[in-house]
Amino acid sequence: MASTTTRLVCAPLLMLLLLSVSTANSVQETGSSLKSSTQKNVFVVDNYGARGDGKHDDTQALARAWNAACSSSRPAVLLVPKGKTYLLKSITLSGPCRSSIVFKVKGTLIAPPSMSAWTDNDRRRWIFLQRITGLTVNGGGTISGNGEIWWNNSCKTNKALPCKGAPTALTFHLCNNLKVENLKLVNSQQIHVSVQDCSNVHLARLTITAPGTSPNTDGIHITHSKYVQVRDCLIKTGDDCISIENGTHDLHVTKVVCGPGHGISIGSLGDDNSRAEVSRIYIDTVRLYGTSNGARIKTWQGGSGYAKDIVFQNMIMDNVQNPIIIDQNYCDSAKPCKGQNSAVEVRNVVFKNIQGTTISKDAIKLSCSKNLPCSGIALENIDLKLEGGKGDTESTCQNAKWRKSGNVIPLPCKGKIKL
Ligand SMILES: *[C@@H]1O[C@H](CO)[C@@H](O)[C@H](O)[C@H]1NC(C)=O
Ligand SMILES: *[C@@H]1O[C@H](CO)[C@@H](O)[C@H](O)[C@H]1NC(C)=O
Repeated sequence: MASTTTRLVCAPLLMLLLLSVSTANSVQETGSSLKSSTQKNVFVVDNYGARGDGKHDDTQALARAWNAACSSSRPAVLLVPKGKTYLLKSITLSGPCRSSIVFKVKGTLIAPPSMSAWTDNDRRRWIFLQRITGLTVNGGGTISGNGEIWWNNSCKTNKALPCKGAPTALTFHLCNNLKVENLKLVNSQQIHVSVQDCSNVHLARLTITAPGTSPNTDGIHITHSKYVQVRDCLIKTGDDCISIENGTHDLHVTKVVCGPGHGISIGSLGDDNSRAEVSRIYIDTVRLYGTSNGARIKTWQGGSGYAKDIVFQNMIMDNVQNPIIIDQNYCDSAKPCKGQNSAVEVRNVVFKNIQGTTISKDAIKLSCSKNLPCSGIALENIDLKLEGGKGDTESTCQNAKWRKSGNVIPLPCKGKIKL
């Protein structure tokens, strides 16, 4: 489309139109014919030796294409063409780059189907992008982790095996002004997308899919990052839909559909007596289908710091196991956790306009620390019923300072949690 219009550069108006078309749509896949100074520089991975047959290793070819794009003095496009499959081992694409970069994935990036392609040093990473300002990743293509072998060898699947980490499919580390849009991620080895030490991040129109039984396959994981937006995503995996970890501030999540999976989780925070800081988290307009949790905050005893100024609102839950849960006594270790005096403070948390069904009676559970009770917990307009109308739901609380407004079903804090 772009090449037919380039010949029609007659009126200034048309030129303007053209400019907006060429930036909004992708440039041509071959890239070679695009030399006009108004076009972005296009670096096609095939021109750097990639085969795109899904069999030959294209890791070095992508690294070379990245280096060329990253050294471009003009805004660059690194293109993975449509209709082809590129086999990639663990790869790190680093900045800083001379200009902004669009990593346009139209085709498929696939990981090797065996674990032997990884060494112990890189086994937590597959595609790792770091120290880049002004990076966009988009294109409508697919990033496939081929994770089945990793799931089969997870200690969660086979208790006889040691617990070792597996690769995160797509990691962004130390990236500012980052956009990740319109991509499909499937069957990651573990976490699908991880955002670490980044700021000004937009994640949108991502479809993330892995079996509900696949271990630790979080959809989106965010840590040490601020000013992050997540919108219009569909996430079906075996672990958290979105996990929000230490150092996350000013996160807005909107229009996300989750399930199967473990729901939207803040934490776990404060493990091994660590300090955690999470604040200004807005989760708005989310649907959860068959997840084990809905809106969840979990912290370990013995930690410090805070999780505060958090809003979960406009959520629809369908067959969710624990729709609303704050757990300041979280314990996920082989041995039971012993009681400790300090805690990560949980303060100013609003649960508002939340409705739907639960498969367990415990619709609302606020299990807070006796040393540092949860405070400022607001429950507003909540209607959670047992799936199939089989009796009433319950709300249990411990050490929680809460208030209610509007209709709240089940009535808040009728029951005490038994320890
Ligand atoms: C993983 O385990 C399942 C069930 O045992 C088996 O059917 C499948 O072939 C295994 N996949 C791989 C890649 O080893
Ligand atoms: C959590 O983040 C805070 C502040 O960013 C930092 O001081 C602390 O060391 C972090 N904790 C862990 C366990 O990384």
